[in-house]
Order: sequence, then structure tokens, then C-alpha cells
Amino acid sequence: MKRLMMLISAAALLSVSWAATSAVAGIHDGVSGGGGDVVKGRIIFDSGLGDDVPACAGCHGTGGMGSDEMSTPRLAYQVEKYIWKQLEDFATDKRMDNAMYQMNDIAKAMTREQRRDVSAYVHTLKTPTLGSDLDAMRRAGDDVGIVHKGKVLVNYGDEKRGISACMSCHAFNGRSAGNMYPAIGGQKYNYLKHEMEAFRLGATTSSKDDEQARDNDHQAQMRKVAANLTDEDIANLAAFLTVSRPSTAGNPSAPRH
Ligand code: HEC
Ligand code: HEC
Repeated sequence: MKRLMMLISAAALLSVSWAATSAVAGIHDGVSGGGGDVVKGRIIFDSGLGDDVPACAGCHGTGGMGSDEMSTPRLAYQVEKYIWKQLEDFATDKRMDNAMYQMNDIAKAMTREQRRDVSAYVHTLKTPTLGSDLDAMRRAGDDVGIVHKGKVLVNYGDEKRGISACMSCHAFNGRSAGNMYPAIGGQKYNYLKHEMEAFRLGATTSSKDDEQARDNDHQAQMRKVAANLTDEDIANLAAFLTVSRPSTAGNPSAPRH
């Protein structure tokens, strides 16, 4: 078992250094399929719509790469249907923005069509870099999780503690299984942590009673997993996922979604 763990750690280290030196541009060649108008979506993303809808880029970053400072997610290349579902959920208060308290108002101020357009646009954004710079965060004094421990949970889960392997729903390295299963690999570290904590709280408390809870996942699929995660698990998972790449030497093809 010890040897196996050592092998797993070695593999984790290898994939991290590989990830650090490789560019992801060009791997993402998926086609969008939700029918939104990409050109109109781009205008909303870059410039917003009048007074009620600020430019998405202002918080989600140029190119939709997300920000650890603001705890905003990377939207670039995220599954289109998933993005669209989130905007519908914010618009109907099924999901509460519990980081900056603005997404619900922003989603409501757009029409269904506009929400579709902007979802189509962000899916077309390519991602030359992914995730957070963990070394920089460590240097800044942040308490960052341990990558190889997160990798074990993503790949195998922990049956005894009731944690399903994330891979079974989010696919290899969290690169997404399409449809309602978002890409969580390459997502921002702080956002990943924040969402896992919100789902964990949502396992016992409704978002109607506590805005910090997230409970918009179909059939509580995500809450059932998050319920059993410790703070340490969450930090480790976020550390591995943020540096994960959609394709690696042994697993070359990223899914088309
Ligand atoms: C004032 C800052 C701000 C602006 C402007 C903003 N967002 Fe957000 N957005 C956030 C924050 C913060 C979150 C995370 C909310 C949470 O964790 O509860 C978020 C979350 C999201 C999510 C959920 C993503 C996921 O992975 O589940 C989507 C989709 C989204 N925003 C789309 C948009 C779009 C489209 C626009 C422009 C029309 C926009 N946002 C403008 C701050 C902003
Ligand atoms: C049984 C399927 C399933 C398993 C197993 C699962 N998830 Fe999820 N997860 C989902 C679904 C479905 C969603 C999207 C919920 C929604 O529609 O808002 C999700 C959403 C998420 C999100 C939020 C993404 C975002 O952009 O906001 C994170 C983070 C996440 N999962 C992490 C994990 C981790 C880490 C594991 C393993 C410990 C895991 N998931 C295991 C089904 C699953």
C-alpha cells in the first residue's frame, strides 16, 4: 500500500510539472451546441447591458478566466448547458450568489435569450492557462491543500467515508462529462473551495434559510458527496483540481462538449 501511495504521489508530481510546462491552447476544440447567438453574447460579456447588467468581464476577468481575489469562477470553455442552467437558477433564486451577492440581480436583468447568448459566447473562449498559481498563493502565505491527496479522492473517492470518486461524474481530471456535469479541473482554487463548502452546508440547510448554502444540484448529487468532506479534503481537492489539465500524456483527448 505504501508503495502504491508513493507511485501515486510520483504520478501526481509528474502531472503537475507537466501541466506547468504545457500550454492548453489548441486542445479545446469543442463545438457549442445550445443555439445562443455568440456575437450578441460577446457584447454582453465585454460591455454589459445598460445600468442593470455590468460587463461580466469586470468580475470574471478578461477572457473569462476567473479571479481568486474575487472568488469568481472561470467561465471560459465551461459547458454551455451548465452555464445556462446556472444563469436560470440565479434568475429564479434556486441558487444564491453567496460570494458577491450580485449574480441573482444580474441574471434577472437579462432575458432568457440573453442568458442563452452569453452562455454560448463564454463556451467559445479558449483557455491558454488554467487554474490558480498555487506556488504564488503559498508564497503569499495562503494555506493551500496538498495536490496528491486531492488526486486520490478525485480518482478513487473514499468508500468508507461515503465519498464517491469525483471522476465518476466530472470525468478524468474533472474535465467534465458534458451536459449538467461542469468542468471542475482548471477551475480557480478559491472558487472551488467556496462551492464545496456551500454544497456541504446545503446538505443540511436550505438556501432559503441560509444564503451561504448551495442546493441547486439535481437530485442532491453534489450535496451527497460534499456532506462527507472535511475542510482538509476540500483544500486538497481544490489544490489538485485547479492544476489538473483536461488531457495528459496517458489520456490525450479532451471531451467535446
Ligand atoms: C459583480 C461581480 C460579477 C459580475 C459583474 C458578474 N458576475 Fe458572475 N459571478 C460572480 C460571483 C462572485 C460568482 C460566484 C457566486 C457564488 O459562488 O455564489 C459568479 C458566478 C457566476 C456563474 C456560475 C458559474 C459556475 O461555475 O457555476 C455564472 C454562469 C456567471 N457568474 C455568469 C456571469 C455572466 C454571464 C455575467 C455577465 C452578464 C456575470 N456573471 C457577471 C460575480 C460576478
Ligand atoms: C453523482 C455525481 C457527482 C459526483 C460523484 C460529484 N459531483 Fe460535483 N457536481 C455534480 C453536479 C450534477 C454538479 C452541478 C450542480 C448544478 O447543476 O448546479 C456538480 C458541481 C460541482 C462543483 C461546482 C462547480 C461550479 O462551477 O460551480 C464542484 C466544485 C464539484 N461539483 C466538485 C466535486 C468534487 C470535488 C467531487 C468529488 C469529491 C464531486 N464534485 C463529485 C455531480 C457530482
